[in-house]
Amino acid sequence: MTETHSIITPAIMYWGTPVVMITTENEDGTANIGLMSSAWWLGHRCILGLLSASQTPINLLRTRTCVLNLASDDMVHYINPITKTTGTPVVPQLKQDLGYEYCSDKFRLSGLTRQASDLVPPPRIAECPVQMEAELTNSMEMMQDLPDRKGALVAIEVKILRTHVRNDLRMAGHANRIDPDRWRPLIMSFQEFYGLAPRKADSSELGTIKEENYRVLTRSDVVKQGGDMDKVKDGEATVVDEE
Ligand SMILES: Cc1cc2nc3c(=O)[nH]c(=O)nc-3n(C[C@H](O)[C@H](O)[C@H](O)COP(=O)(O)O)c2cc1C
Repeated sequence: MTETHSIITPAIMYWGTPVVMITTENEDGTANIGLMSSAWWLGHRCILGLLSASQTPINLLRTRTCVLNLASDDMVHYINPITKTTGTPVVPQLKQDLGYEYCSDKFRLSGLTRQASDLVPPPRIAECPVQMEAELTNSMEMMQDLPDRKGALVAIEVKILRTHVRNDLRMAGHANRIDPDRWRPLIMSFQEFYGLAPRKADSSELGTIKEENYRVLTRSDVVKQGGDMDKVKDGEATVVDEE
């Protein structure tokens, strides 16, 4: 039989995840932006995978607050100028070797705009269509089985306190839903940027489950806000999410 697969050892395993721009507060009260994509969500929690020596985890572990700003696929021109930068005044050797430099103000260098948050000190990024205010709930040093690299990476669990979405992403007639046909996340795959294909790949059996059925996991740990109410004024019509 012909071999269809080969054994390889990839130096990175960036299989394709959305780009998150994490805003945190520096010790002097200024804001930092940390670009990352090792993030996933479950319920109203998010797990962030970060290099421990970066300014973002240093700020997050100290202040316990951040904003997860999601980039859309037309935002690469904001991202490239701040890519090889760090908010740590002393640039770690690994980053020096990769050509990184210290940047004290990534908002200025990127051209992005600060937008005040409601519940946490770090600002939101106005240009990002999705902005999630969050607080740290847990963290774990990764690679504890490898004495020479123990703790070089950290997994941080944050609780989403409040979600802001640009109005054009909302599903018509629903208080709390995103229209996946409108949400165009920026995806990083093996250090290159992609958007989603313009159309659905196929019809989804999972998509037949009503989203509100998942509320059993998310109802108790969110800060009460307009969108949590059973009925909200949605511009033209009063809408009710399905039971
Ligand atoms: C698109 C993109 C995705 C990235 N993903 C991650 C990631 O998931 N985890 C991480 O630690 N660094 C990631 N990086 C590298 C960080 O952005 C880099 O370490 C940066 O210096 C962090 O900034 P800070 O030190 O100011 O927090 C990514 C960079 C880019 C451009």
